[in-house]
Amino acid sequence: MGYYVDQDQLKQAVAQAAVDYVVKKIESDSIVGIGTGSTANCFIDLIAQHKHKFLATVASSEVSAERLRSHGIQVFELNAVSEVTIYVDGADEANTRLELIKGGGAALTREKIVTAVANEFVCIADESKWVKNLGTFPLPVEVIPMARSHVARELVKLAGDPVWRENVITDNGNLILDVHHLHPIGSACELEEKINQITGVVTNGLFALKPADILFLATQQGIITHHPAH
Ligand code: 5RP
Repeated sequence: MGYYVDQDQLKQAVAQAAVDYVVKKIESDSIVGIGTGSTANCFIDLIAQHKHKFLATVASSEVSAERLRSHGIQVFELNAVSEVTIYVDGADEANTRLELIKGGGAALTREKIVTAVANEFVCIADESKWVKNLGTFPLPVEVIPMARSHVARELVKLAGDPVWRENVITDNGNLILDVHHLHPIGSACELEEKINQITGVVTNGLFALKPADILFLATQQGIITHHPAH
């Protein structure tokens, strides 16, 4: 009989798998993109042992930047680099196309910007994040503060149920609306575009137009590597 591995152990295991993968891909002038959240934190702590193998990092949040600096790892502004070799981040949900919901940690906008620049997006998650259809996890939407009520009304028209994440201000000085009851999201690309077109929305937590390139999923049976299904 096997033994049960808890969620923290799964996060550690998947972060280690990502470190092994990244170390094979980087060179001395590489910039490594670093995500946000508890799984990304595991990755930060483990990649620290290899900090001499790459030039620097860019981070998707102030919290991650601080954690990287605490390990003596250089953090560059994204505007200071022309290329990000590889980006590693967690997710709140992932499907077989490697479309994601992200933003549980309110860092979705910077995460999406770093993925836009990165040559490769490696997603790391434990099996609780693997879903058939996206939308059970409430979809985070970053909004300009004065547009909060307007955006909420527009999200209701899209059949969502937006809830203001009170007491949260993003690194960009904005607010988060978490949109409930969207499950099952049919076309994630279509919904991502529609929500982004609402005036006052900065971005939303669907990563479908540019999904992950590879997903390492930690399961009770070990690490499973997923490539996007078509
Ligand atoms: C932060 C994110 C995280 O990647 C997501 O919330 C997953 O976090 P965790 O690894 O703690 O489960 O999108 O904005």
